[in-house]
Amino acid sequence: MRTQNSATVSGRIPLPPLSTAVELDAGDIAALRADTPGCENVLHLNNAGCGLMARPVLQATIEHLEREAEIGGYEAAAAAAENVREFYAETARLVGAESPANIAFAGSATHAYSKALSAVPFEPGEVILTTRNDFVSNQIAFLALRKRLGVEIVHAPDLPDGAGVDVEAMAVLMRTRRPRLVAVTHVPTNSGLVQPIAEIGRYARELDLLYLVDACQSLGQIPLDVARIGCDMLTATCRKFLRGPRGSGFLYVSERVLAGGYEPQFIDMHGARWTETGDYRPATGAARFEEWEFPYATLLGCAAAARYARRVGIERVSPRAQTLAARLRGRLEQLPGVRVLDRGRDLAALVTFTVERWDPRPFKQAMDRRGINSALSFREFALFDFGDKDIDWCLRLSPHYYNTEDEVDEAASAVAELAGSAA
Ligand SMILES: Cc1ncc(COP(=O)(O)O)c(C=O)c1O
Repeated sequence: MRTQNSATVSGRIPLPPLSTAVELDAGDIAALRADTPGCENVLHLNNAGCGLMARPVLQATIEHLEREAEIGGYEAAAAAAENVREFYAETARLVGAESPANIAFAGSATHAYSKALSAVPFEPGEVILTTRNDFVSNQIAFLALRKRLGVEIVHAPDLPDGAGVDVEAMAVLMRTRRPRLVAVTHVPTNSGLVQPIAEIGRYARELDLLYLVDACQSLGQIPLDVARIGCDMLTATCRKFLRGPRGSGFLYVSERVLAGGYEPQFIDMHGARWTETGDYRPATGAARFEEWEFPYATLLGCAAAARYARRVGIERVSPRAQTLAARLRGRLEQLPGVRVLDRGRDLAALVTFTVERWDPRPFKQAMDRRGINSALSFREFALFDFGDKDIDWCLRLSPHYYNTEDEVDEAASAVAELAGSAA
């Protein structure tokens, strides 16, 4: 019998019933863990690397792949058109975008960031104003632009206590240097720091400067609202705190930027129409930043992840993830030989520390052997930050709302045991 290819892909297994309380309660956490297959296998404290997918995310992704195999890839995409549109609607709601047309899917946050940067027609000598804690790949991209186009890179100074960028000093640089682009990473990969992106955004709007935010580590962890942030463009990945499948991210592009005619350096037949032999017209929306070929299964998984996150409620996720991180930091700070490295007024759910007398890889392997997922950062990931802290590496533990207090305590005990023994 032939399969009907007009059927829509469901991608919608229901979420577990949750309380409506302001905070997630013990019953909610148990239900959310039961909805997360990985919780049975690992103590996952690497959500800043890649979160564990929830069942509806996994199902939406797998169902579409199966459909592609059953009826053909193009046909499966056509059948899933409604759910594909939902990716844009859900993502727009998640970040407070004006409309779904302000969202472009991307294969990663880095892909989205490169597209965004490529849309800025830099002239030699123009300034990119950024921070000392911006993500490593962004810093390399700025340097590549300097090599190719002769832009100047200016790093705003940090506050004297190392608690993130000095916003007032950055505002002075905005006024005096009139940067072509202000670029800020909300939460860096290398510590729990949260940069004051909305405060910076107020100055960017006041001075009418183009403002690009990297929200890769904050999406799914901290509420985001592009209107409040005042950014022109924002990039993120879906696999981390949003708990989407790997190989996915997006770019938010404001109406201002779209109306200003910004378009990526390379634009294809999806991003534009070839209107005459000598001309093309870019898509009116953020689709001009996309390409024709899409990993539809991944995108549908991301739609499910965005829906899931909004249903759990980022305003409930955020305090829980941060409280677990604070608990872990508190435990680690008590341990001899362990140095907790996170500094800042507000701290995200990224906990970073070094351990005396250990080399990085054996330490991580020892954590792996205990079934505890973690991540290493090295000096070349954060030259300014690790230079200031005078460290060559750190281990990062990043809890999320579905982790438990017991898990966090178990991880702290494992660190205590290892720190107390020679490498
Ligand atoms: C702050 C930040 N920005 C950007 C990225 C890059 O994300 P992706 O790997 O999706 O390109 C990361 C990845 O760790 C990150 O932590």
